[in-house]
Amino acid sequence: MLELTDIEAGYGRTRVLHGVTVPAGKVVAVLGHNGAGKTTLLRLAIGLIKPSKGRVLFDGEDVTSLAPNQRVARGMAYVPQGQQSFGQLTTLENLQLVADGRRGGKALVDAQMARFPALEQFAARKAGLLSGGQRQQLAIARALITQPKLLILDEPTEGIQPTIVAEIEQTIVQLAEEGMHVLLVEQHIGFALEAAERYVVLASGFVTQTGVGGMAATSTVRAAMAI
Ligand SMILES: Nc1ncnc2c1ncn2[C@@H]1O[C@H](COP(=O)(O)OP(=O)(O)OP(=O)(O)O)[C@@H](O)[C@H]1O
Ligand SMILES: [Mg+2]
Repeated sequence: MLELTDIEAGYGRTRVLHGVTVPAGKVVAVLGHNGAGKTTLLRLAIGLIKPSKGRVLFDGEDVTSLAPNQRVARGMAYVPQGQQSFGQLTTLENLQLVADGRRGGKALVDAQMARFPALEQFAARKAGLLSGGQRQQLAIARALITQPKLLILDEPTEGIQPTIVAEIEQTIVQLAEEGMHVLLVEQHIGFALEAAERYVVLASGFVTQTGVGGMAATSTVRAAMAI
C-alpha cells in the first residue's frame, strides 16, 4: 500500500531522515527512541513535509509531489501525536465536521459511535472535557470517517490510562482485520510487533533494523534499541 524509498528529509537545513526505506505491509510499525525521526517520517508520508530525495508510493502511484489533501483524497488518513480535536466542539460535532458533505455522512458518524462506545456515551460533551484516551479515540474516529485505505497513527497510546490503551490496541487489530492498512508509531514495542507485519527501527534518522513482525521479533528489537 505505502512504500517509502531512500528518503532524505528534514526541516530547513536540518536533515532528519537519512536514506530511510519503509517496506509495504498490512500493519507497519515504526519504532525508535525519542527524537529518532518517527513523527517526521509520518509527516512525510502524509505530505506535510517533502523529501529532498527519495520516493513515496501509495497504492502503486507515485505521490511524492502530492499535497496532504490530495493524499487524503486517495485514501490516507493521519492522526497526529497528541490527541488533537476541537475542544470547544462536542464529540458529535467533531465527528460531524468531518462527515459533512460526505455521502452517507450520518451513517459514517453512527458507525464510529458504534465502534467507540465512550464517544457515544459522551456525544454531547465538549471534546476538551474528554479524557486523553477518549480524545485519542475521537481523533481516530475522525480519521476513520474519511474511510481511509491507510491509517497513519502517531503514538496513539502515549500518556493514556492502561484500560483505554487496551481498547485502542484492540481497535488497531480490529481495523487490520477489517482490511485497513496501518502505519503505526508506537512506544509499546511488544504490542507494535505483535500487530505488525513488518517493522523498522529508526535511530537518529537512520533505519538501524527492519524485519518481519510478530512476538518473536521483540527480543531482537529490544537488543537493537538497547532496552
Ligand atoms: N519543526 C521542526 N523543526 C526543526 N527540527 C525539528 C522539527 N520537528 C522535529 N525536529 C527535530 O527532528 C528530530 C526528529 O524529531 P521527531 O519529532 O520526528 O522525533 P520522534 O521520533 O517522533 O520523537 P518522539 O518519540 O519524542 O515523538 C528531532 O531532533 C527534532 O528536534
Ligand atoms: Mg514523535
